[in-house]
Amino acid sequence: MRSVVWRDGVVAILNQRLLPHRMEYIECNSYERVAQAIEHLEVRGAPAIGVAAAMGVALAAFKCEARRAEELASEVKGAINRLRHTRPTAKNLFWALDRMEVLLKNLVREGVDIEEIKDRLVKEALKMAEEDVQTNRTIGRNGAVLLDDEDTVLTHCNAGALACVDYGTALGVIRGAVEAGKRIRVIATETRPLLQGARLTTFELLQDGIDVTLITDNMVGYVMKLGMVDKVIVGADRILRDGHVINKIGTYTIAVLAREHGIPFYVAAPWSTFDLETKPEEVVIEERDASEVTEIAGVRIAPQEVKVFNPAFDITPPEYISAIITERGVFKPPYDFK
Ligand code: MRU
Repeated sequence: MRSVVWRDGVVAILNQRLLPHRMEYIECNSYERVAQAIEHLEVRGAPAIGVAAAMGVALAAFKCEARRAEELASEVKGAINRLRHTRPTAKNLFWALDRMEVLLKNLVREGVDIEEIKDRLVKEALKMAEEDVQTNRTIGRNGAVLLDDEDTVLTHCNAGALACVDYGTALGVIRGAVEAGKRIRVIATETRPLLQGARLTTFELLQDGIDVTLITDNMVGYVMKLGMVDKVIVGADRILRDGHVINKIGTYTIAVLAREHGIPFYVAAPWSTFDLETKPEEVVIEERDASEVTEIAGVRIAPQEVKVFNPAFDITPPEYISAIITERGVFKPPYDFK
């Protein structure tokens, strides 16, 4: 079950808004439809939106009817620009679009034939999808050593196969430990407002036969106090040079609670999530529509006139993070990524 697939000139996106009730792929015939899928969270999770965007760029090239390489380049750059404005926080989106743009520029500069350029862009997007899966498996192996047999691991949001192309980052570490023969139990937070934990994390862990218990976000402190949590593992949308981690709203709260209870707090992410230039105060935290908070599954739960604040992410300072697990190894504080 892959979240994004290239099918001969169509970008097929597993519609995560319908999960866990229905498994349907959206057949995107244009980069605009891919952009909308990212905006509407039909595809979501930092690595998945990066690969979806790269495939959107490949699709723009594949469909382009221009006869000259410069015209193709200008159309594809338009697509890249549109995709850049879908969601602001996950670094992987910009990493993927930059990679496609650099390749496009090089191919045009080298005078490569237009059909060859299209082909190379499609191949690059497919390569990124394969790399994602391999990277996650490496993250899984690297992180598995941090988990002990019979551990109960709390995770937030969905940093699983669905948030990537496959396998997952935080859930990749759990899968890695299970594949190494460890018995791991998972506690998944529901993750309001869009319920990625309740809808997606539980769904994919149940499919894999991994023991999972669902709690609401406000139960985290109590389950920690009860001694029910051995470790926390989450994913990331952006990791800064000094180890600040930007991830789904609620991550910071869980990190503070973990420290209070002496529970290790781990972050798992690929190198494409790292942003070594931006300072914490410069990070753009996406704010989403008020209806995500005033409604649950389309049903209004709050008064019409109420004010709403709906940030999609928060920032966890490095002092709360016990280790950051990547495909390049496990990093411990003090963090100074290069
Ligand atoms: O708003 P979302 O669902 O795209 O947010 C996803 C998360 O915050 C994930 O934890 C993060 O992208 C890591 S996914 C491997």
